[in-house]
Amino acid sequence: MIWAVIPAAGRGQRFGGPTPKQYLHAAGKPLIEHALNALLAHPRVAGAMVALSPGDALWPGWSRLQDKPVLRCVGGGERADSVLAALRALPDEVGDEALVLVHDAARPNLRRGDIDLLIAAAETCADGAILGAPLRDTLKRAADGRIAATEPRDGLWRAFTPQAFRRGALTTALDAAAQAGVIVTDEASAMERMGAKPHLVEGREDNLKVTTPADLALAEYLLGKA
Ligand code: C5P
Repeated sequence: MIWAVIPAAGRGQRFGGPTPKQYLHAAGKPLIEHALNALLAHPRVAGAMVALSPGDALWPGWSRLQDKPVLRCVGGGERADSVLAALRALPDEVGDEALVLVHDAARPNLRRGDIDLLIAAAETCADGAILGAPLRDTLKRAADGRIAATEPRDGLWRAFTPQAFRRGALTTALDAAAQAGVIVTDEASAMERMGAKPHLVEGREDNLKVTTPADLALAEYLLGKA
């Protein structure tokens, strides 16, 4: 059994404006609806657990989408706290060995082929797998607005979501990071702290996370073409 876990408790402060970015609209729907639909339309995904901020008045109240259950829980102060809360809130029938696909609510353009590749990799690797893409730009280290160094980009990837891990192992890893006071910005880094070496699966570059108004315009364009 595979469940989707959607951290959606962010306030989207980097985007600016009063509306958390997961509720901004592109192609006629909130970003979170695109993200949920993409995951729940996959035949292997049984349901979704969404972590919301306390008192979220914008959540549309879905209990089912794509004829599958959509459950919700209260998230936490950091993304990792929200994911941990969602993992703990999953139904008991989702055992420790079940795969969970953790996906940002503000990443609306996820395609079926990428989910297929990710699940295939995670099922053959006990350490899990994530979607990502190799860096294409030249990397500069900045100091006081000037270039201090050019960094080698060989072997460097950008990490996307979904990230796929076993429920039990990921819960243990996120709990350990929280106990140690380490803020992890994705699930893989929590697993890496425990010695895991998750697979990197090359995914589509257009699986973008909406962080700025320019990203939203691009998402609108991409979703309109889909
Ligand atoms: O801010 P960022 O782009 O890293 O957020 C990625 C995802 O994590 C978003 O879907 C956001 O709603 C979620 N998040 C969360 N709880 C937080 C912070 C962010 O669920 N405390």
